[in-house]
Amino acid sequence: MRIAVIGAGVMGEVIATSIIEKGVATVESVVASDPELTRRQCISERCGIATMAENRRAIQDADVILLTIKPQTLPFICHDLAGHIAPDQLVLSIIAGTTIHTLCEGLLHASVVRAMPNMPAQIGQGMSLWMATPDVTPEQKEQAQSILAAMGNEFEVHEEKYLDMATAVSGSGPAYVFLFIEAMIDAAVHIGFSRPMAHDLVMQTVNGSAAYAQRSGKHPADLRNMVTSPGGTTTEALLALESAGFRAAMTKAVLAAYDKTRALGGVSSK
Ligand SMILES: NC(=O)c1ccc[n+]([C@@H]2O[C@H](COP(=O)([O-])OP(=O)(O)OC[C@H]3O[C@@H](n4cnc5c(N)ncnc54)[C@H](OP(=O)(O)O)[C@@H]3O)[C@@H](O)[C@H]2O)c1
Repeated sequence: MRIAVIGAGVMGEVIATSIIEKGVATVESVVASDPELTRRQCISERCGIATMAENRRAIQDADVILLTIKPQTLPFICHDLAGHIAPDQLVLSIIAGTTIHTLCEGLLHASVVRAMPNMPAQIGQGMSLWMATPDVTPEQKEQAQSILAAMGNEFEVHEEKYLDMATAVSGSGPAYVFLFIEAMIDAAVHIGFSRPMAHDLVMQTVNGSAAYAQRSGKHPADLRNMVTSPGGTTTEALLALESAGFRAAMTKAVLAAYDKTRALGGVSSK
């Protein structure tokens, strides 16, 4: 599979590295384009792939054209590539909030996969949801799937609303988890732990709890009850969290991110 990575930034490099490491593509079959010389040098040194400044040159002979650019760059890319993409080439976009309609119309191209990966993809622990247009062939779907699977878990959906929803849950989700970790470390420092000790305690607690929840398959409420003895310390802490609106705050956060995603994609929440 020959792959052209348009935009050699963080995600461009992550995907190039992952697919080469996992054997989805060879070093020789991946190229990247980026206007910035330093970015081209970086990705070339780290992944060993060929790079170029011209996007049109990069997509020549590619089976899959990966769009790993910021949303604000898309108009330039559309201007550059529209009319130059062959019908049998697959466009795989990870641009947050950019709809399939915008991609197809802007690029004058019908075979498009829109995917929503997340930040842990950078260490192979990502969660990607993706959706293909009707013109994407079964073989192209397999190609898209194997590229996304190189970065962690992937899941195909058949309605685009799930991609906007995933943006608010798994896409922005790592930020919610990082805030939770930060707040818990600060709290541990507040009661007297040194910051390094607080960091280690909290990280292992979060890692261990997530692994336990996944492995046990139990409902989170059942797991919480297992840690909460009657009249004990945990129940006091949970009462404090619920009184402070923890659960409602999480729902509001996800809703706010969802509304913003839809607004960026041109859908009103009202
Ligand atoms: N980072 C994540 O964890 C994550 C997760 C999910 C989805 N995404 C999505 O992935 C996309 C890329 O994110 P990122 O974090 O990798 O951003 P990034 O590091 O800024 O990468 C974008 C790259 O595109 C380059 N570029 C700008 N104009 C270009 C052009 N005309 N032709 C080719 N390349 C061009 C940029 O170069 P300059 O620096 O010179 O502008 C930059 O190197 C975004 O749409 C984001 O929503 C990211």
